[in-house]
Amino acid sequence: MKVAISSDLGGNNLRKEIMALLDELNIKYEDFGPKTDDSVDYPDYALPVAEGVASGKFDRGILICGTGIGMSITANKVKGVRCALVHDVFSAKATRCHNDSNVLAMGERVIGPGLAREIVTTWLNTDFEGGRHERRVNKITELEG
Ligand code: RB5
Repeated sequence: MKVAISSDLGGNNLRKEIMALLDELNIKYEDFGPKTDDSVDYPDYALPVAEGVASGKFDRGILICGTGIGMSITANKVKGVRCALVHDVFSAKATRCHNDSNVLAMGERVIGPGLAREIVTTWLNTDFEGGRHERRVNKITELEG
């Protein structure tokens, strides 16, 4: 599995924590996050991750900003991306089982690093259930035209 990860300045610390987790889990990733502490605009940092997942270059994407909201709104504009904004472990599992989400968004100002680690681990390790959920996901894809 190859993961693309990014954040804005508001998600910098949690992005570093999650990259450390990916290292521990031996999961390959590419970091598209800011390289300086200058203020940046979150859409510019969500887009390369969303496009990388949509193109198939990456299997999954992880996006972090202050709330996760701006990142998730941006990512979901890209055709083929199903980005889930998640701040609990139950939803992390459910969005993989039911929505086949391929991008995860979280807010650094919303949750702590321990919970974020559990969310990411669960989200990366849970398979899509398919079946009736596949029919529903296909209906979302049809909306993209
Ligand atoms: C940046 O101040 C903040 O707006 C951003 O990190 C994010 O929360 C946007 O949705």
